[in-house]
Amino acid sequence: MALKLSVIGTGYLGATHAACMASLGFEVIGFDTEGSKIDLLAKGKVPFYEPELEDLLTAQIKSGRLTFTKDIKDLADADVHFICVGTPQVKGGNAADLTYVNSALESIAKVVKAGGLVVGKSTVPVGTATRLRNRLLELNPKADLAWNPEFLREGFAVEDTLHPNRLVVGVVNDQAEKVLKEVYAANLSENTPWVRADLPTAELVKVAANSFLATKISFINAMAEICEAAGGDVTVLAKAIGYDPRIGSRFLQAGIGFGGGCLPKDIRAFMARAEELGAKQAVEFLKEIDAINLRARQRIIELVRKDLSDDLQGKKVAILGAAFKPDSDDVRDSPALDIAAQIQAAGAVVTVHDPKAIANAQKRFPALKFAEDIDNTLKDAEIVLHLTEWKIYREIDPIKAKSLVKSAIMIDGRNALDRTSWLSAGWKFRALGRANNE
Ligand code: UDX
Repeated sequence: MALKLSVIGTGYLGATHAACMASLGFEVIGFDTEGSKIDLLAKGKVPFYEPELEDLLTAQIKSGRLTFTKDIKDLADADVHFICVGTPQVKGGNAADLTYVNSALESIAKVVKAGGLVVGKSTVPVGTATRLRNRLLELNPKADLAWNPEFLREGFAVEDTLHPNRLVVGVVNDQAEKVLKEVYAANLSENTPWVRADLPTAELVKVAANSFLATKISFINAMAEICEAAGGDVTVLAKAIGYDPRIGSRFLQAGIGFGGGCLPKDIRAFMARAEELGAKQAVEFLKEIDAINLRARQRIIELVRKDLSDDLQGKKVAILGAAFKPDSDDVRDSPALDIAAQIQAAGAVVTVHDPKAIANAQKRFPALKFAEDIDNTLKDAEIVLHLTEWKIYREIDPIKAKSLVKSAIMIDGRNALDRTSWLSAGWKFRALGRANNE
């Protein structure tokens, strides 16, 4: 008989995992302590923007395979329980807050049946899985726990869950691996690489991967600083080094840097955990990665100041983009919003546009002004900042845009606009890491 699955925590990770597993034919029940989330999901509504997810969710609810509950006891007859709760940064520190993971384990340990498998997917500091497994066995000696980190990207969550580029399972027993192979049979039939690891290695794979990605981005942003100082062009440099397959061209897009709910907090939690383990020096470079990343935001603000004669007071600034990256409404640690807030705090009159993230941005920065329409955002602007590379911004006609603004200065914070067409339309065009042609 097919396995029955449960998913604890229905945020980006959990809601996507639940809908995708149901689409593979499993019976899935989703649980969350936030009742309002469950109410929405049960109606087929996704409480955040993620392409494809709502259609998939609705279809799976209709099929009868996917249900949601607010009562943990309803999970009792599932065979495999995925823990998908968040591990945010603790307030006032760098470490990960494990409150939700700990309480998820405590709750599920009470209902998991004999032979049941609890599978952690949340990103946790190394050592957490072993501690949670010991606790589970204490409460429920006939259950087991495995760790199966998730690498999904926001904006591609469904695609990444259904067709991951690898599956990593941290297990103690062969039986746990056997069960997980049954869960991921569809992926295995597509020859998705399967990596069996011990619990600490499985946990580390996730933070190591995110640290590497963050390092790649900060590396190219460091090169952008050098290009600026030396009169080079970081976009050409990135293209040239990217042709070397050992380097690869992805994640070499220089600009205002990384944000979101993962990369920034994961590298900080990694440093905090390494210090606890007495291995602080090994990842001390991540401090520099973080610093380069945050510096990119200041460098953009310096470009703005330069063009506005160092006086932002009362200047009308148009900002294109609030989400931390395109195809997402997530504004957690968004470089775009951080820059918008800093420019406003310096006295400018800022208007922010985003196709999906305005509601979330407004909650975080209620004092900022938002516009639903690009033309209204650009109207009478004395400078325009392109900070999240949504496709619609690449489709803006620079000639028409010039007729709307007061002063045609574009700062491309993502190196994603076609500089030639903006320059030939008569704009001053600035970008990080490139000669700032008139
Ligand atoms: C990341 C990891 O990619 C994913 O595997 C993990 O599961 C969760 O964390 P995500 O946070 O969705 O995913 O975003 P990602 O696509 O990695 O981008 C992170 C940030 O880096 C964004 O702010 C993006 O704008 C920025 N970025 C990315 C760059 O500045 N330059 C690049 O070249 C690539």
